[in-house]
Parts: sequence; structure tokens; C-alpha cells
Amino acid sequence: MGDNMLKPNFKEAKKRTKEDIKVLRNEYKIPNDVKNLGFNKKYFIKTYGCQMNEHDSEMISAILEDMKYTRTDDYENSDLIILNTCAIRENAHNKTFGMLGRIKHLKQKKPGLMVGLAGCMSQEESVVEQIISKYGWMDFVFGTHNIHKLPEILKEHITSKELEVNVWSNEGNVIEGIPFKRDSKYKAWVNIMYGCDKFCTYCIVPFTRGKQRSRMPEDIINEVRELIKKGYMEVTLLGQNVNAYGKDFTNRTYRMENLLEDVAKTGIKRIRFITSHPWDFTDKMIDVIKRYDNICNYIHLPVQSGSSTILKLMGRRYTKESYIELYNKIRDKLGENCSITTDIIVGFPGETKTDFEDTLKLVKKCKFDSAFTFIYSPREGTPAAKMKDNITKQEKEQRLYKLNEVINKYSKESNDKLVGKVIPVLLENVSEKDSTMLAGYSDTMKLVNVKADKKYIGQIVNVKITDAKTWSLDGEINE
Ligand code: 5AD
Ligand code: SF4
Repeated sequence: MGDNMLKPNFKEAKKRTKEDIKVLRNEYKIPNDVKNLGFNKKYFIKTYGCQMNEHDSEMISAILEDMKYTRTDDYENSDLIILNTCAIRENAHNKTFGMLGRIKHLKQKKPGLMVGLAGCMSQEESVVEQIISKYGWMDFVFGTHNIHKLPEILKEHITSKELEVNVWSNEGNVIEGIPFKRDSKYKAWVNIMYGCDKFCTYCIVPFTRGKQRSRMPEDIINEVRELIKKGYMEVTLLGQNVNAYGKDFTNRTYRMENLLEDVAKTGIKRIRFITSHPWDFTDKMIDVIKRYDNICNYIHLPVQSGSSTILKLMGRRYTKESYIELYNKIRDKLGENCSITTDIIVGFPGETKTDFEDTLKLVKKCKFDSAFTFIYSPREGTPAAKMKDNITKQEKEQRLYKLNEVINKYSKESNDKLVGKVIPVLLENVSEKDSTMLAGYSDTMKLVNVKADKKYIGQIVNVKITDAKTWSLDGEINE
């Protein structure tokens, strides 16, 4: 074992070259020997992390189904298990290793079971070393850059019968023509770019997802047109930093505002885009969002901290003041109904009480519709992991608690404002909490539970809001 392993390398992953991005269209092939590998067999896939990962899992599923596997939601009854992992915080790691512990017992009872690791953790040197030294019972490891090579990786493993590690570190290509098995019939993820060149000091993503590569606009528009034909109502344009879309093109000046406009012109009912970095949010983008009704009034704009000192240490390239200025501009132009959400990290190395108070002050000013809040988690290989961190765990937990109290207060307030109003909701499925209700999202990304007949599933309907909670709304159809 070991000779033919392709392991991740952070030094390589950190490199950013000026070379042109190549679009490769014929990379996905299934070797003859594994064409029917999944015949009469079931696969189970568990996804951790962000929407990008969820969408990658849709790709992994399609590839496995091309090899005749069928899906199961019961891992104990499966023949192939893939964990599509996230590396963003320590607890994402812990969840994966916990799951691997359970799978190990299953594998002892079922030696024919194949187990593979995919996603962002596979791109981490230390994780792969750990898999090799302590999880040698696993079957294969592949990364975020070579998902399309899964059939060949399985073939290699079946031939060698050894742990197959195949992870690419340095990727400068865009690969087209890989299928997706989409989870929803009504809303779809659409990648517009891969990777990230921002290198915020706390973040592992530029290492695990590589250099920024934008897809060609024509490929994106064609994908959206196909989705419309299939009856999709909503697309979410995906990227680690979507506002920087197109900045890597050397031969054209086509940017996010152009893409948003062209996607809007396809006539798809709803367009969302995540995630935005405040640095690249242009006035032209705001104008396009305002001009097209089918671009949703919803902006996820991570601030990370309300202290300019901490923002500087984070390498975010904006100050508290310039964030608030952008925030106000968006609110002014798109109106009070536009929903703005954010991400905040507490306990970044060196964050003083005053820095934290600044974050609370910013939240009180901006009154976000909702926010994802996190305790800083050091990621090996990132600059922040080497910074002196002298805040106790208890203090960090208290800060998170305090922050969440304020965030929740404003979430509830923003939801309260909607009571009595009629808003459009895309009803997606039966509500998890109450089987007599349907659940869906407003264009402003509010979760709404609606008393309605199942025939409305898949439709955008006008809903009168009857009740507001912190994280959801209740309503009834208003025709
Ligand atoms: N520790 C805690 N939170 C992090 N995030 C990214 N890296 C870290 C880290 N090392 C958060 C940021 C980002 C969100 C996806 O996860 O807030 O916006
Ligand atoms: Fe997790 Fe980031 Fe990878 Fe998404 S891109 S799976 S959030 S580490």
C-alpha cells in the first residue's frame, strides 16, 4: 500500500498561477469493467457542509447511478458508503470521524461493503495521513477536484483491493459535462464558479477548493434553460465568492452583473446566489437585482466581525464602516422588504471584549433577517491558526450565546413585520413538523409552513402570513 497514492499537498493547493482556465468537456468516462458495478447494489451518501457540497453529492449520486447503483437512505443496508465531508470547523471533522467509527463496526460484519471519503476533508494533508495510518480499512479517498474520476478510482481499488487515495491539490480547470441527480424537482443548484482566491486568514476553503475558476456564461445559461424545460422554478447560483464571478477571465469583461442579467432574461421564476463577499459587491449588481423581479430580494452578506481591527486580522479587506455603508446602500436601493442575512465568527484570535461589543453594535445597526454564528475554529495550514489565541473556551461560548440572543431578537422582529402580509412562497414538500402542512420558502428566504393541499407542491403561491416565530412563519393560501 502507498506507492500509487496521490495525497493532498497544501503547498501546491495554495499556489495561484496566472494561467488561463481551461474548460474540459470530455473528461467523464466510465471504464467498461465498472459499467455495471452497482447492478443490484445500493449506495448511501452522507453530505456535510455547504450547498456546494450538497451539489457535489448530486454529482456523485448521478455518477454512481450511471454505474447502476441505486440509492438508499439506510447506510446499514448499503453496499457502498460515501461521506462527502466538510473541513470548515473542527466539529465538521468530528462528525465525520464519529460516523466512520460506526461504519467500521458495520464493515467488520459486512466485509464486502465499500467505504469512501470525499469532499473538503479529503483535501487536507493531515486528514489523509490519519486515514492512511488509522483507517486503513477504508476503500478509497477522492477530493473536490476529481469527482468525475470516481469510476476510475473505483476500478483501481477493485483491482488493487487496497486503500486507493486519489486527491488532486492544484486545479486550474473547469470540467463540464458531468451529470447531476438533483434532490429537488423545483429548485436547482447551479455552479457558476469554483474555488476562492480571497484567502481570509481563518478559512480553509482556498486550500480545499483551489483557485478561482468561473464557468463560461454560455454553459451556465444553457444549464438554466435546460432546467426551465424540465419545470424548475428556482435556481441558486453557487460559488464560494460569487461576486468575483468572471474576474478570472482574461479574454472578456463579463462579470456577475452581466451573468445575473442574462440568467434573469431566461425567464426562470426565481434566482438566488450565494455566497457574496462584500468586497466585490458592485453598484451595477444592485441595479440588476432591482431591475429584475425574478432575482430574489435576498442577499447573504457575511460580515464575520463588527470590529475593524479583527476584520483586518481576518484579511477581509473592508472595515466596519464600509460594510455598513454597503449594507445601507443595498437596503436603500432594494427596499425594506429585501432580506439580508450574514455569517459571524466570535472568538477570533485576539478578539477583545471591545471588539466583540463592536460586533453586537453592528448587529444592532443592521438588524439582520437572520445569521449563522460560529465560534472560531483554528484550521491547520491557515495563517490565523498561528495567531495567539488567549480567549478561554468559556468566554467564547458566552460571546456566542450573547450574540445569538441579539440575532434571534431581530429575526423574530423581521418575521413579525410580515404578519398579515401576503407573500409568494414556493411550496416544496410536506412540512417536517406537521404533516397537514406544506413547507416552502418566500423569495426573501423565509421558511413558511402553510395549511394547504398537496396539489400545491411545486408551485409558487401567494400566502397570507398568520403567525411569526423566530425561524419560521405560518400562513394560509390567499388566492
Ligand atoms: N472557524 C469558524 N467559522 C468559520 N467559518 C469559516 N471558517 C471558519 C473557521 N475557521 C464560517 C464563516 C463563513 C462560514 C461558511 O463559516 O463565517 O462565512
Ligand atoms: Fe465545508 Fe467550506 Fe468545503 Fe463547503 S467549501 S464543504 S463549507 S469546507
